Amino acid sequence: MARGLVVGNWKMHGDRRANEALLGHLRQAPDGARQMAVCVPFPYLAQAQAALEGSAVDWGAQDVSEHVQGAYTGEVSAPMVADFGCRYTLVGHSERRSLHAETDAMVVAKAQAALAAGLVPIVCVGETLAEREAGQTGSVVSRQLDAVVAGLGERIDEVVLAYEPVWAIGTGRTASPEQAQAVHALIRKGLGSACKDAAAVPLLYGGSVKADNAKALFAMPDIDGGLVGGASLKAAEFLAIAAA
Ligand code: PGA
Repeated sequence: MARGLVVGNWKMHGDRRANEALLGHLRQAPDGARQMAVCVPFPYLAQAQAALEGSAVDWGAQDVSEHVQGAYTGEVSAPMVADFGCRYTLVGHSERRSLHAETDAMVVAKAQAALAAGLVPIVCVGETLAEREAGQTGSVVSRQLDAVVAGLGERIDEVVLAYEPVWAIGTGRTASPEQAQAVHALIRKGLGSACKDAAAVPLLYGGSVKADNAKALFAMPDIDGGLVGGASLKAAEFLAIAAA
């Protein structure tokens, strides 16, 4: 990936006033070395679109339904999200997998729905602490990845993948650059036979990325950028990560 990508995941944070200030700061971001995007809560997609249109920063959602439309109360479809000019949507974030019982099959269906609506799915994979300690990191990540590779076929070239070890999310406990690189290399290898150009699929690292650890992580050969939660809520910190 030539430029690299840094994506903010606001999770369930924000209000119109605070967003206005944050988006206003991001809007000023120079069209620098790395692409930037923010994935905001659904009600704020219109606000993100209005604030960021014409800037160097893209916006997206944090989830989409696997269905296109119908009697699915409370759900939001990929075409609805695309209607607000989104470029991206997260899919299969570990909080969706663990708190909303999303299976590998659902994650694939959501990624397919996103692609069909013209969105770029940012598909998240990663192991829990118990899985890492049991030596299952490789098998868990490979299982999650293989499902997406099989489900998307040749469209696998159009996704972004994010490796987020669950034990590093929101804990302040970042994977070391070497730990992250080892899994990224595994993912790149797993993509190898399925993709036309595995090197062109952006692989993001997520889990307690901050301005002071981003540079070492992004220096790794298979880490093309970051998926940033908490630190994306502070404009200066997020911009510093994007510049790292
Ligand atoms: P964090 O979250 O940066 O706050 O650890 C990352 C994420 O969940 O995407």
